[in-house]
Amino acid sequence: MNNQYIIAPSILSADFARLEEEVSSVLAAGADWIHFDVMDNHYVPNLTIGPLVCEAIRSYAVKDGQPACIDVHLMVQPVDRIIPDFAKAGANLISFHPEASAHIDRTLGLIRDSGCQAGITLNPATPLSCLDYILDKVDLILLMSVNPGFGGQSFIPSTLDKLRSVRKILNAHEANGGKKIRLEVDGGVNVSNIAQIALAGADTFVAGSAIYSKPNYQEVIASMRSALTSL
Ligand code: DX5
Ligand code: ZN
Repeated sequence: MNNQYIIAPSILSADFARLEEEVSSVLAAGADWIHFDVMDNHYVPNLTIGPLVCEAIRSYAVKDGQPACIDVHLMVQPVDRIIPDFAKAGANLISFHPEASAHIDRTLGLIRDSGCQAGITLNPATPLSCLDYILDKVDLILLMSVNPGFGGQSFIPSTLDKLRSVRKILNAHEANGGKKIRLEVDGGVNVSNIAQIALAGADTFVAGSAIYSKPNYQEVIASMRSALTSL
């Protein structure tokens, strides 16, 4: 098994009245990262959480005594103004949608200059050509397997082909001396499809409703890990 697999529960599906407990318990249950969905009712038709909430959960996002990665997924337009705020609030990785940035290369630079890792997020219909010329500045590619805006949607099957294509691009990049870039999938990931998604090339899995809708997080995460172990 590839022990580099990362499971990142999306707190979008958590109980916001008990966020401290929802963050710490999902990490204690075996999750690796916390996926933090930021929606602005402009780029996407929903409104969620911002830097204040990121700062509030920072001290509870701990795994084995170490800070766990807060994986901030910005679904906001414009992007640049808010990046330093998330960096100050303790984000470790910040991803954004290229359609929401006027200057993609500049936004990637801003994220890295603020001390965070940078991710680029591709919607289901966003072409892979947007990865041209930026791989040297990207730490993670986030493929949306649903249209962004809401938790609890179904996985779009054509994402599997897209994943295979991105995996080829990343393998070629690494073969040419480029650094390792994570390939994350977001939307409709669950125990039944996670193995198939990993086989198509993903190494990092966001799951919101599949984890937070269940009473026992440890059981779901263990089932996801065992599906990945069988590969
Ligand atoms: C969708 C968000 C996702 C979503 C995942 O816009 O980016 O992170 O909350 O939730 P599930 O796993 O329920 O599809
Ligand atoms: Zn997300």
